[in-house]
Amino acid sequence: MKYQRLKSIAVQVHLAERVRKRLIKEGALLKGYKIKKDNDYVYFPVKKSTTLPKGVDKYSVVNKAFEKKEQHICSYKELVSLPEELKQELPTSYDVIGQILLIKLPQSLQHYKKRIGEALLKADTHIKTVCVIDPVRGELRTRTIDVIAGEQKTTTIHREYGLEFFVDVQKTYFSSRLASERKRVASLVQPGETVVDMFAGVAPFSIMIARYANPKIIYAVDKNREAIKLAKTNVRKNKVLDKIETIHGDAKDVRTLIPCKADRVIMNLPFSAFHFLPYALTLIEEKGVLHYYDILSEGMLTERIDEIKTIGRQNNIKLTTSRVRKIKTYAPREFYIGMDITATTMPM
Ligand SMILES: C[S@@+](CC[C@H](N)C(=O)[O-])C[C@H]1O[C@@H](n2cnc3c(N)ncnc32)[C@H](O)[C@@H]1O
Repeated sequence: MKYQRLKSIAVQVHLAERVRKRLIKEGALLKGYKIKKDNDYVYFPVKKSTTLPKGVDKYSVVNKAFEKKEQHICSYKELVSLPEELKQELPTSYDVIGQILLIKLPQSLQHYKKRIGEALLKADTHIKTVCVIDPVRGELRTRTIDVIAGEQKTTTIHREYGLEFFVDVQKTYFSSRLASERKRVASLVQPGETVVDMFAGVAPFSIMIARYANPKIIYAVDKNREAIKLAKTNVRKNKVLDKIETIHGDAKDVRTLIPCKADRVIMNLPFSAFHFLPYALTLIEEKGVLHYYDILSEGMLTERIDEIKTIGRQNNIKLTTSRVRKIKTYAPREFYIGMDITATTMPM
């Protein structure tokens, strides 16, 4: 039975959070049911036998129907039937973008992909589609998708920090793992800044900045027509039309595509961002900042920083790196690296 009539207390909305904490502390809250709410009151199901804690006993006791919470299953692994020797090969991690789950499967598990997909759907009722993915490829950083369970679709709406991004996981790049990095960059943007997002994709960095900072303007550039189409939708849906100009074009042409210099340039094109540094340097203001991302093995990092500095010198700009850090693991011993780079003109 999904609903059950239970003893509950009715608490005015503005007092609800305090009372909820008190009920939990005193062990009086009945777990496993969704708390109910109307315009005036929040209703907390309480244990039938418990005497209500002092102070909480003044609230009205009412009988209401409460919906049972979905049972949480710890892992999809418990739900897949597989030959025992293959179980240890089931991946422990995967990505979720909106209602689509993306997973990489080793060759040995390909034969069981349908079962694995169904188990993943069952384990998380929020997921509507399960896809097996290959690594992102090519200039536009897109990937082949094999829908193995659920709805046959590759589009979804991903939510982070109160923002909504329309994404096509097949035709555009998007990583939900960069949410806190986007928020961090937004927190650094000063009022009135001009920002260029050189490889904007569906514009998650640009929109995060437009919503959480107060820039003058953000230019969001991408070479992928599909990404720019979705970026336009996302800019409109997140109500930041006055802050973001989307541009379908090649980042090599930024000097002609963008009518002014930039205080901040976001360069999120791992493996290749390095080759675009000279173009970014034609845009950057004195003391401007580049947010640079790359995929490197640990041993390559010092070399890459030296190369970055050399490109700066060749352009008469001193590049100072800071906040060099691993954001996520990309492959065994390879990392998604982020760094902030400040640009200052070199004395002649
Ligand atoms: C790793 S994705 C980053 C997307 C976005 N910044 C994000 O965080 O979701 C790199 C993006 O760069 C775009 N791209 C690749 N080469 C480009 C170029 N020459 N000029 C402009 N965009 C390019 C790809 O289409 C892709 O959307």
